[in-house]
Formats: sequence, structure tokens, C-alpha cells
Amino acid sequence: MTNIKTKVSKVIQAKTMPDKPDLKYLFEPRSIALIGASHHEDKIGYKILGNIVSSKYPGKIYPINPDGGEILGQKVYKTIDEIKGEIDLVTIVIPAQYVFDAVKSCSNKGVKFLSIITSGFSEIGNSQQEKEIVNYANEHGMRVLGPNIFGIYSARAPVNATFGPPDIKSGSVAILTQSGALGIAMIGKTRVENIGLSSIISIGNKSDIDESDLLEYLVMDDATKVIMMYIEGVKNGERFVRILKQITPKKPVIVIKSGRSKKGATAAASHTGSLAGDDNIFSDIMKQCGVIRAESIQEAIDWSKYLALSNPPKGENSIIITNGGGIGVLATDACEKYNVTLYDDLETMKKIFSDAVPEFGSMKNPIDLTGQAKFEDYQRSLNAAFNDDDIHSVICLGCEAAALDTEKLFTFIEEAISNSKPIKPIVLSFFGGARTEKEIAFYKPRNIPVFSDVYEAVSCLGTLYKNYRNLQYRVDTIDQPASAETKSDTVLIENIINKVRLDKRNFLFSYEGMEIMKMAGIAVPRTGLAHNIEEAIRCAEEIKYPVVMKIVSRDILHKSDAGGVVLHLDNKEEVIDAYQAIIHNCRRYNPYARIEGIEVSEMAASGTETIIGARRDGSFGPIVMFGLGGIYVEVMKDVAFRAFPFSRKEANNMVSQIKSYPLLLGVRGEKRKDIDGIIDVIVKVGEILYEHKDISDIEVNPLITYEEGKGVKAIDARIILTRLNESQFGQAKTEEEK
Ligand code: ACO
Repeated sequence: MTNIKTKVSKVIQAKTMPDKPDLKYLFEPRSIALIGASHHEDKIGYKILGNIVSSKYPGKIYPINPDGGEILGQKVYKTIDEIKGEIDLVTIVIPAQYVFDAVKSCSNKGVKFLSIITSGFSEIGNSQQEKEIVNYANEHGMRVLGPNIFGIYSARAPVNATFGPPDIKSGSVAILTQSGALGIAMIGKTRVENIGLSSIISIGNKSDIDESDLLEYLVMDDATKVIMMYIEGVKNGERFVRILKQITPKKPVIVIKSGRSKKGATAAASHTGSLAGDDNIFSDIMKQCGVIRAESIQEAIDWSKYLALSNPPKGENSIIITNGGGIGVLATDACEKYNVTLYDDLETMKKIFSDAVPEFGSMKNPIDLTGQAKFEDYQRSLNAAFNDDDIHSVICLGCEAAALDTEKLFTFIEEAISNSKPIKPIVLSFFGGARTEKEIAFYKPRNIPVFSDVYEAVSCLGTLYKNYRNLQYRVDTIDQPASAETKSDTVLIENIINKVRLDKRNFLFSYEGMEIMKMAGIAVPRTGLAHNIEEAIRCAEEIKYPVVMKIVSRDILHKSDAGGVVLHLDNKEEVIDAYQAIIHNCRRYNPYARIEGIEVSEMAASGTETIIGARRDGSFGPIVMFGLGGIYVEVMKDVAFRAFPFSRKEANNMVSQIKSYPLLLGVRGEKRKDIDGIIDVIVKVGEILYEHKDISDIEVNPLITYEEGKGVKAIDARIILTRLNESQFGQAKTEEEK
């Protein structure tokens, strides 16, 4: 009865919930009201109005303040009801306790978006009121940005409805930030670095609108070439992953995620109420989505700027031109770190650079013009590199030297970049004293990609290549979920889960887990369940010796610790002894343990032990983990994660990502292991978890991997179900009821 009631109310709710407004009206509002427009210059409500006015916003502006009058030449309305016509965006900047009433006052003015600047909601534990505000807003066709934000700047409108700096340069980088203060600082920083923004939006507590919503708009926005995000925690990770996978084949997404360390994660929780999640999982899933992860804000800013301004490369061949051997070697190291491929065709390089490099210089890559190189030597070499089709990008380096006029060189590059003829990607790094530093400080904001640190310069080029490869790679891997032929027998699996529920358990016995593996088409050892010695002997003889015996008890989770596992049993006598020993040990370990029986299984041949896990992650939903067994997973933590669903190709990436991958390829004369077999199991385990919402965790440990072509075998499978409360247990259906 309750179920029917809930269903009916859901239908009614679904019918009465108004459509969500188009995000276009958040980025391109035709009218803006400001509840809390202040008469006092030192208040945020004054500053925001000032920014809206000075950003030359072409739409209608409605400042609202109970005192009425005029602020910054704008007529002030005493209440929202005095305003005629609809309002697309309402910015709210009044103390928290008055916000809900203000939201209610917007409900019959056709308001589409609310940008709630005010702090004092879920970030300090006041989640209830935040929820009430969002529910009310959504029920009345409004969506909420924030609360606890600095607002939104959009170059499209244009409008600066933030309380950050007033002068934002328009351009092609979009920034989404969970931290308001950092976002405001980023506005200042981008101005100093002369980076143009298509938008900057603060998402704060993301009570309603989150980064996924905004990304859906930004992917369609032609003005946005690069998206940069600062995030502290992911809420609806499955949707986030889906959207990122759609965006990254079209435009680069650069992410800075804080809360990597334990203490950082705690700080994130109290800043915007975010759960930072496991950083390794986040990193791997971003990799899977083609997202570029930056370590620091400076890195993210440098990369965003470079990606926004640089032409895409046409190939992988990069060349280093330098006047110093040492800095050339440093750049070579940096190229390895950031995956920049150095061109190494000596014959062709000789042809290209023979006229440009002095006799005593080097035409190997790095091209060394030597310490006496003048501007003209650089000019000749750069022109040679720019004009040859075999060279696709250039790293131009220099140490401050009397002979070299860097100002001339930077001006030459500035002209080449701003020439109508698009040049190849180039980065520069110059190292020296006051003169060099001054020139870098002068030319960098003029959009010359020059850095004093070689690694910073090469990292920009490496990021450009990451995106270049990403675009090529991602074209053919957009989420083709596991193929249909890998589908497991879902009805039979559901039957096992139902039986476990009826038995009031949240976990499956090992033999039940193995049944599920078998139904999914995963090879497992032959197994039987014995309830007495005779049955154990019969099982062993059917399976054929040698066999393994393990206790089956809901009260004994760690079977080996209880003395509940015996391996290498070669005959009937050993089976009898093992049976008695297991029962004895387990009784001593836990006299009250309920013993379901003893599992008898084929003793699998040894091979390379791997582990495959899958679980429902709080942030990302179904995720799958892979690693090599034993010390590799326990000590080295050498594991890879991916969000499910994913393609076989992605599963292959996951396997080859671990550091111990060479062991699977075969070392010291060993043959390659059955990597295809591992990939099969990864995909199948992911699919079982994905399809069966009752399952919360699966661990196949070990999955023994044999030589290529000889397959894999799951030796044990632990499966845990999602927790139900006492009353839900009885709801599992019996065979007859179905
Ligand atoms: N309708 C219209 N106007 C109203 C209403 C209302 N219901 N209620 C109050 N006002 C007016 C007030 O009269 C006042 O106008 P006045 O200055 O002309 O007298 C104005 O709105 C502001 O109200 P105050 O009570 O003075 O509030 P104050 O400006 O001190 O603070 C604020 C409001 C800024 C929203 C504050 O409560 C707050 O949350 N501050 C933190 C904001 C923040 O940091 N957000 C996160 C940003 S991200 C980051 O970290 C940088």
C-alpha cells in the first residue's frame, strides 16, 4: 500500500514539476534583478551593481532595496513586485535568514535563475534550509546557483554579476570554481596574465546547479575553447563522467582538485561541505574521461592560456633550439616527463639546419647554436624549423648571454605569432638575471609563451600534445559499453541475490559468489558444498585430486585466521583429516558460529595472481579496480581505477597503467600472460555490479592469470550487498511469489 502511495505521489510530482529553464538565460540573461542592492559603497550589494553597470550589460537592471531611491544612477525598486515583466536572473545578496522569503517573492515573476551569493547554509551545517530553498525554487521553475558564491561573469551577455574585480577581459577560457575566494583571485590573475575569459562562474555549495549542468552549456558555447575547473568534491559523479566524456573530444578540460591529502579532504568538507573522495580514484577517472589534471593553480592557468592561444600541432616531432647545452639537457628531461617527442632524424635535421647552425654547433636535437649565438642565428634556425613540414613544434631556449639580444628575439616571435600565417606551436624558456626577467615579465602578458623555468615551458607543450592525442584517441572510444556478448545471466544472478536476502545476509558465501562468476562466463575452479565427510569425499572424487577445502559460515569471514582452509589434498584420507581439522579449528575459533558446510574445490594450478574489484563509490557510482595480487596491491598500492561503463580498450588502458604491467608482458624469459582474459573479467565484473543494483562490492581475489591463450581463473569471489534495514529484508521475492 505504501509503495502504491509513493508511486502515485511521484507521478503527481513528476507532472507538476515545471520544466527546467534553459541555461542560456543564466549566461545570457535579458534582465537581472539584485535583491540586496546596497546604498553603501563598502557592501557587496553595491559592488555587484557597480560591476553589472560597468560591464556594459545591455539588458534590464532592477536593483531592489526596501529604501528605494537610486544607486549608481539606477532606479531602485522597493520590492520585486514593483517590477513589470519577467526577470531571467535574480542575484540575492542579503543575510541568510531572509533569503528564503526573497526566493518566495521571485516565484511569480517568471524568474529563471537565482544566484545566491549569501553564505551560511550547508557549508556551516545549515543544509535543511538550503534544501528547502532549492525545492521551493525548483517547484516554481527556478534553478539555484550557489549559495555561498561570488556570482557569474559571462562574456556572451556581457555581464559581470560578481563582486570580484570589475575589469574582466573577454576571451575563450571558461572557469568553473567551487571556491569563491580563489575564483575572485583567479579573475585578478587572469587579468595580470592577459587571459581572456568566456565566463567565470562560482558554484559554491552546488545545491542545485553543479559543474555538469554548466559543462552542458559550455560544450555548446562556441566562444569557449578551454574549460578550467577548480573542484573540491564530486557529488553526482556518474553524470559528471558522462558529460566529461562528451566534452573532451571537443575541447580540453583542465581540472585542479584540492583535498588530495587527508587533512586537505577535511578542509574541503568544512569549506563547501564537499566529500573529497579517494584522490587516486579521482585521478584515474579523470584520465579515463580525457581530463587534464593540473597540480597547482599556476599550472592550470599557464596550460589554459597556452591551449587557448596556441595552434594545434600537426604531428609529434618537436625540436629544441638552444644556446646552452645544459638547459638543452634539462629540456630533454622535461620532454620525457611531459611526453613530448623529440625529432631524431639526423639526416633530415642536417638538411634543415645546415645553413642556420654554425660549424661548431650541434645539429642533433637539441640544436645547439652555442653560447655565442646572436639573434640572427636564432632567427635563421627558427625560420628553418617553422618552414619545414617534418617539424611540428619548437622549444626555444636560451641562457642570458652577451651576444644574444633577447628583446629582438621575443619581438620576432611576437610578430611570427601575430602574423596572419599561423605558426607551429612554440614555447620559450630563457634563464638569466634582471634583464631576462624583465623581458619575460614584459612579453608574457603580450601572449608570448615564455617562462624562466624550462619545465614550465615544456609542460605547456606537453599539455597541448596530451590534448592532441586525447582528441585523436577519444574519437573512437566514447563510451562503448561492454559488448552484448559479455552479458551475464541476469535472472539467475537475481535469484541468488534474492535467496541471500531471504536468508537475511548482506554478503554471499564464497560458493554463491563463484556461482555468479560462472553465470557471468568467468572461469572458476570446479566446486561442491559438503555437509558431512561422505559428501566431501564424493565431491573431491568428482572434482579430482588435488582439492582445497574451505569452511562456509556466516560467522567466520576470515577463514584462514580461523584455520578454516586446507590446500593440496591429494587423497580420501587427507580429505577426511582436513574435514575434521576444519570443523575442530572453527568450533574453537567461534563456538557459536553457524556452519553451513565445507566447500571442496579443484586446486587450481599456480600462475600470476591479480585482483579485480568493483564497488559503488560515493562520488562516482560503479567503479572497477585492477591490480596485481600480494605485495603489489597491499604494499605498493599499484592499482588502477575506472568508472563503469567503459570499453574493452579502456579496460586495456587500465591494465597497462599499473607499474607492474611489465610482469604481465613477461620478464626474464617468462611468456606474456593472458591479458585478454583479464580484460574479459574486468568488463564482466563491472557489468555484474552495474546491472545488479543490490550488489555494493565484488572482489575477485585472486584471479590467477596463465600464459597468453591459457586463460584466467577466479579462485575466490567476495560479494557484498547494499545494506537494507530490517523491514526491507522480507521484501526479497521467493520463487513462488515471482
Ligand atoms: N530585499 C532587498 N534588500 C534587502 C532585503 C530584502 N529582503 N533585506 C535587506 N536588504 C538590503 C539591506 O537594507 C541592505 O541595504 P543597505 O546597505 O542599503 O542598507 C542590503 O540589502 C544588504 O543587507 P545587509 O543586512 O546590510 O547585509 P550585508 O551586506 O551586511 O551582508 C551578505 C549580506 C553579503 C549576503 C552576507 O550575509 C554574506 O553572506 N556574506 C558572505 C558572502 C560571501 O562571502 N559569499 C561567498 C562568496 S565566495 C567567497 O568566498 C569570496
